[in-house]
Amino acid sequence: MKTNLSRIRKDLESLSRFNATPGKGLTRFSLTPEDRGARDYLKSQLEKLDVMVYEDSAGSLFGRREGTNPSLPPIMIGSHFDSVKNGGNFDGQAGVIAGLEVLRCLEENNVPTAHPVEMAAMIEEEGGRFKSGVLASRAMAMGLTLEELKRHRDEDSISIAEAMASFGFDPSRIDEARRNPGEISAFLELHIEQGPVLEKEGFELGIVSSIVGTDLMGVNIQGRPDHAGTTPMDMRLDALRTAAEVIAKIPSLAIEEGNGTVATVGTLVVRPGAPNIVPGEVEFTLDTRSIQASSIDKVKDRVINILEEKTRTDGTNFQLDQLLRVDPVAMDEEIGKELRGQAKKLGFSCRTMISGAGHDAMVMASVFPTAMVFVPSKGGRSHCPEEWTDYEEIQKGVELLYHTVIELDGR
Ligand code: HGY
Ligand code: MN
Ligand code: MN
Repeated sequence: MKTNLSRIRKDLESLSRFNATPGKGLTRFSLTPEDRGARDYLKSQLEKLDVMVYEDSAGSLFGRREGTNPSLPPIMIGSHFDSVKNGGNFDGQAGVIAGLEVLRCLEENNVPTAHPVEMAAMIEEEGGRFKSGVLASRAMAMGLTLEELKRHRDEDSISIAEAMASFGFDPSRIDEARRNPGEISAFLELHIEQGPVLEKEGFELGIVSSIVGTDLMGVNIQGRPDHAGTTPMDMRLDALRTAAEVIAKIPSLAIEEGNGTVATVGTLVVRPGAPNIVPGEVEFTLDTRSIQASSIDKVKDRVINILEEKTRTDGTNFQLDQLLRVDPVAMDEEIGKELRGQAKKLGFSCRTMISGAGHDAMVMASVFPTAMVFVPSKGGRSHCPEEWTDYEEIQKGVELLYHTVIELDGR
């Protein structure tokens, strides 16, 4: 192996220290002190190499190793370094470390590449802080607006724009993060599978063929706060009662749709939120995913119909907030073939598979040739403190990326 297991281990263990909830999984929201710690660690590692270290106007961090033909667009290897609340130490981080270790190995082995090679450490993929996920890749692939950065706010009602400004970035320059078609020759993302397939079937690696579509919608239901003791049941505008009746129906809508469609209500806020006040307002999020875009739309439309039916008669009303929509996307077949060929040469067992999780790659793939490599998740668990992947398994994914980058460069 050209890659270095102890460096990979040290990187992941070092990054895991920058955590807002030690002992209760990893919480590292973007543009926070935990982000700063992880970012500075990555910078310190990059600065040991002969690479240009820079941040784009969206706040992502890059390390660029020049190619012999710097006019060629870079091969980029990256993922995100923010996390969900109380999540794990591998989701996103493994892919960032993969980019760092590939840069180290190219230098260590004096491998000249025609293309520049860049590591990317991307922010706010999870949307954990601002509910505006895959932010870095959307800034690169589609371009973002200052208005969008002002619109999305965290629990303390700090907007992305304000958080960027206090972190040292200028949100008014967000459009500079945009990379036009052709400006990245390939985007490669190593990621933990976050599911049970590789472990159950005994494969060392997964090559992703396509990523499911994701739709995230906010639902706000307004009723009327009243005294819980004196308000008769037939005089209430109980926002939580309406929400609960709608939410209870959602799982069966996804099951009925089939296609592996999933729907999740992961957040629920009740206001004012006291035992003796009839809930006046409720907010929840609906996360719907499927490999078929039409299935996503069908489930969403049925939820909205149920909301309309209920609120027509029970006196409450509702608003919707479309937070994110990315359609199902296929990975680059040529690069997929290259990855499978290299895995075979390296003697790593691998299988092709769909990703049920969303990733920056699903956004990058809409503009740049993109591919993903999965490494197994222990027990299929992720987005929880139990998330685990053996370092040796991550190393195989990094090794595959290292050899594939050299092959892609020479094509
Ligand atoms: O939600 C996802 O699938 C990813 O972890 N952001
Ligand atoms: Mn995640
Ligand atoms: Mn992830």
